[in-house]
Amino acid sequence: MKAVVCTAYGSPKHLQIQEVPLPVPKDNEILVEVHASTVTTADTMMRRADPFISRLFLGLFKPKNGRMGTGFAGVVAAVGPKVKDFEPGDAVFGETGVAFGANAEYVTIAEDYVVTHKPESVSFEAAATMTDGPMTSLNFLTNVHQLKAGQHVLINGASGSLGTAAIQLAKHMGTEVTAVCGPKNAELVRSLGADHVIDYHQTDFTTTGDTYDVIYDTVGKRSFAECKPALKATGAYISPVLNIKLLFNMLFTKKGKGKSASFEATGLQPANVLRPMLEKLANMLEDNQLEVVIDRQYPLAEAPTAHEYVDTGHKRGNVVLAVKATAA
Ligand SMILES: NC(=O)c1ccc[n+]([C@@H]2O[C@H](COP(=O)([O-])OP(=O)(O)OC[C@H]3O[C@@H](n4cnc5c(N)ncnc54)[C@H](OP(=O)(O)O)[C@@H]3O)[C@@H](O)[C@H]2O)c1
Repeated sequence: MKAVVCTAYGSPKHLQIQEVPLPVPKDNEILVEVHASTVTTADTMMRRADPFISRLFLGLFKPKNGRMGTGFAGVVAAVGPKVKDFEPGDAVFGETGVAFGANAEYVTIAEDYVVTHKPESVSFEAAATMTDGPMTSLNFLTNVHQLKAGQHVLINGASGSLGTAAIQLAKHMGTEVTAVCGPKNAELVRSLGADHVIDYHQTDFTTTGDTYDVIYDTVGKRSFAECKPALKATGAYISPVLNIKLLFNMLFTKKGKGKSASFEATGLQPANVLRPMLEKLANMLEDNQLEVVIDRQYPLAEAPTAHEYVDTGHKRGNVVLAVKATAA
């Protein structure tokens, strides 16, 4: 089968479409024929081994296995003898986590890991994006910080994969949402439910005098120190983008006791945390409570071009690899 393989850390030119052996499901695993997969900002960071410390598990000098991608949606092609909840022909979606390998024609995954049935009304492309922005933002707004109805949340980077999902999740939770984005995405974020929109090219949201219960900096472009004046007395700065400063801010602040800062690596949480979130998202998709923003789609063979586009830092929502031509 064909799979995207990273042969060296660095630019997308190190990505190759290689012929690799078809994986064989273990006793508790399902083999999924992938219809759609994603190229996320986190994937491009893996490709660059950014941050450097990620080399400790990716491979010190070059990628150990180099297989790319985590989010997928497809159809079960075969099941191991101990699998109970899935059978061949089931449409499913999920993520492979640190096993990677989702940018491929087939992938195996343990039936009790982060995988669930895809609602029939939802496209494979939309389902494949769920484990990036939607699951991360659900984790940040409900687990990392418990956002409450009536609160006011500011979402910085509101036009990315995490941001477009966060607006909708925060509105669903009964909060007031201020979205920070560039001018070309103002209409998009309004259409997703944002109550107020700030153009980051024109206005620095930290200096307007307005204060928020939560600042969710999905793109990590503003520090906790910069955001403090825009936080209420016990306001929380939460961000999925780790750096040393944020690590220290986390160590020296406490949620609910003054202004606090938090980070978490969602994909590293155990399956018993991630899977219920995936199931919740499946229900929201089925009930039309979540709109998926897909910016561009590429065939598997054009994965390097997809990476180049994600590398610009200006995608809107999600970038998808339509792996099987019949994906619908
Ligand atoms: N910790 C976790 O669990 C976890 C999980 C998944 C992802 N992540 C991380 O989350 C981050 C966000 O990913 P993403 O895919 O949502 O977005 P992204 O691809 O990193 O960012 C794209 C969006 O950000 C906007 N943007 C760029 N500069 C901005 C600025 N200065 N202020 C406000 N908006 C700006 C762009 O709009 P314009 O074109 O208008 O500039 C674009 O729409 C990534 O760093 C990713 O690695 C973390």
